Amino acid sequence: MKLTRRTVVATALASPLILRAAAAQDLRAQIKINTADTRGAIDQKLYGNFVEHLGRCIDGGVFQEHSPLSNEAGYRRDVLEAARGLGVSLLRWPGGNFSSNYHWMDGIGPRADRPPRLEMAWGTVESNRFGTHEFLDYAEQLPTEPYICANLGTGTWTEAQQWVEYCNSAEDTAITRMRRQNGRKDPWKVTYWGLGNEMDGPWQMGHRSAEDYGKFALEAAKLMRWTDSNVKLVAAGSSNYAAGVDWSAWNRTVVDHLQNYIDYLAIHLYVGNPNDDFGEFLASSRLMDDKIETTAKVIDGVLAGRTDGKKVHIAFDEYNVWYRARGNDQRGRRILEERYNLEDALVIATLLSSLVNHADVVKIANMAQLVNVIAPIFTSDDGLFLQTIYYPLQLFAKNVKGNSLKVGVDVPSYKTKQHDDVPYLDVSGALDGNTLVLNVVNRHKDQPIETTISLEDKSFSGGLAIAEVNGPDIKAGNDFGKTAVRAQSRTATARGKTTQYRFPAHSFTQLKAQLA
Ligand code: AHR
Repeated sequence: MKLTRRTVVATALASPLILRAAAAQDLRAQIKINTADTRGAIDQKLYGNFVEHLGRCIDGGVFQEHSPLSNEAGYRRDVLEAARGLGVSLLRWPGGNFSSNYHWMDGIGPRADRPPRLEMAWGTVESNRFGTHEFLDYAEQLPTEPYICANLGTGTWTEAQQWVEYCNSAEDTAITRMRRQNGRKDPWKVTYWGLGNEMDGPWQMGHRSAEDYGKFALEAAKLMRWTDSNVKLVAAGSSNYAAGVDWSAWNRTVVDHLQNYIDYLAIHLYVGNPNDDFGEFLASSRLMDDKIETTAKVIDGVLAGRTDGKKVHIAFDEYNVWYRARGNDQRGRRILEERYNLEDALVIATLLSSLVNHADVVKIANMAQLVNVIAPIFTSDDGLFLQTIYYPLQLFAKNVKGNSLKVGVDVPSYKTKQHDDVPYLDVSGALDGNTLVLNVVNRHKDQPIETTISLEDKSFSGGLAIAEVNGPDIKAGNDFGKTAVRAQSRTATARGKTTQYRFPAHSFTQLKAQLA
């Protein structure tokens, strides 16, 4: 074990030698906070989610017609309630890979008349019974901000433009008359639109080179923007990190072409634990850090010559743990469903902290996905249970707001095959008025870490709310009728400039303190 100092405000601890000697029983750390040291506002849209026509996400998840658990519109009431508990701030639809051959006009009009289509992304048949009206009405019921990903794979410029017109225009046109005939008088005014999905991946229908995508997406973006000047557009950035792929070059070319029309560049990342290596898996947020920091530099580089203050933020609009239910789904019609355990929940907490620790550049994030497939909510025809990853997402969405803090952490670190220096404590912080929130994952499998938390410019004023996500062991998971991993809450008191906290082994702890 090696002592390192990970972050900005660091102070000397005991020597590495002393720590090494002490480590067997007693790991120690220091967390230091100066509330003036922030990196800017945390956008609530970091707590977005995603519903794709994939497996049982929509059909049997969000939407199940004729189920006693559904309301008259066909939405599962229990799923709506569970989704409300996540405070979903932005909901992406209809894909994902599905979006690249989705022709939105198939999904409007009387449900019985809608055409079933062969679905090639996931090898099934799409009924089209859940379409634009169903999605946007669902977003209103949740409620959440909708985010539609247009088909820039097999779709046309006109198709993308007319989708914006159908959803957003108040003019009297052939397209908006269709909307009115289909029962919706007023436009929904959808602000967030994706310019395709993962167009860098050879697996994508309509995959193009960065140059070709940049040119094609630019024409779509112009028409979409000229239809509604209020739309915010998200370009498809990197998702293909295969060996030998220069994913940064993709991002550079895309931003170069689209800079006058886009507000965000989307990047994706899925992580996993295929070799059953806890330490390596718990270091996954390092991969997210790297994707964000590298992409932010690329964007800055492209925009450097501009004098108009133009910004392109990062939309991390797909992220999750996903490695068990992978494979040849194409036409295999295999049900793609991950069951999550405690270690997955801890990794999700670190990924959320990575987003918060880059809140100055990342302004949108969407966990993929909301229900079934790779998701925090898991249903059957008779009910649902909350997967382990539900709890960290809920705690972040509910409590981590205001400004992102640069938190100083001194803690021993460990080495993995991929990373030299992984701190045992993963930390992010936020300050909202006088409320301080610290998110701490103890990456140590077996040992608690005794930590001194110090405030440089403020004091703890009494109340300390503690939520801990933990379980009997790192592989413990939830199921119908069984909740082994959940968030447990309690309160304590903290006063003065410092407080002590012992972060249990393999845990995620959120501390919420009032400051004076
Ligand atoms: O979220 C599952 C799939 O992962 C999405 O359809 C695709 O965009 C990504 O590869």
